[in-house]
Amino acid sequence: MNNYEFDKIALSIALAVFAIVFCVNIGDLIYYPEISVEKRGYKIEVPENHNDNAKQEEVIDEETLDLKLLFDKADYKKGESIFKKCSICHTINKGEKNKIGPNLWNVVNSKVASKNEFAYSTAMQNKGSTADIWNIQELINYLKSPKKYVPGTKMAFAGIKKLDDRIDLIEFLRTHADKPINKP
Ligand code: HEC
Repeated sequence: MNNYEFDKIALSIALAVFAIVFCVNIGDLIYYPEISVEKRGYKIEVPENHNDNAKQEEVIDEETLDLKLLFDKADYKKGESIFKKCSICHTINKGEKNKIGPNLWNVVNSKVASKNEFAYSTAMQNKGSTADIWNIQELINYLKSPKKYVPGTKMAFAGIKKLDDRIDLIEFLRTHADKPINKP
């Protein structure tokens, strides 16, 4: 191998290395902005809004609700549609049979665990010590998280997080009674 040939090989290697480095950097130049945009997009999307909502919901003090204000906005139709979740286990009309859960005709302001011929859990029968009437506030609390509010209940239902949804649903329950109680 003479010097000239050696130079040629060295030059080719240098060119190859340069080409590789060049391509990689070009690649970075082309892709980097996209990656960073994607990252930024993702960060914004990381449900900050969601967190805000969650925080807001935690902040609502459900023991001091303005029921009148809430029920003025209650949407019966929405409540009816939300009741579909309940109707797997509950009937709502007068004289209908108990299913997995008791029939819910007259339930608002009724005594807790008072439907004849329904085998309530001990937990539900003992609930009376906290409040033995299904008034609106009790329903608001119970339907948010049945298992938390009445530990040991056999109502296998996760609950309804959104307060407005529960209000709509309770408005639907309220009207299904011999003598519906007045709106708050
Ligand atoms: C998976 C079945 C199931 C679903 C779904 C369900 N429930 Fe129940 N529910 C029950 C059972 C079982 C009981 C009896 C609980 C006990 O004895 O511990 C019950 C009890 C109740 C009670 C107390 C009744 C009383 O006579 O004291 C109310 C009120 C109630 N459910 C409302 C609802 C509403 C409203 C929904 C829909 C959001 C719903 N439930 C969804 C099974 C269910």
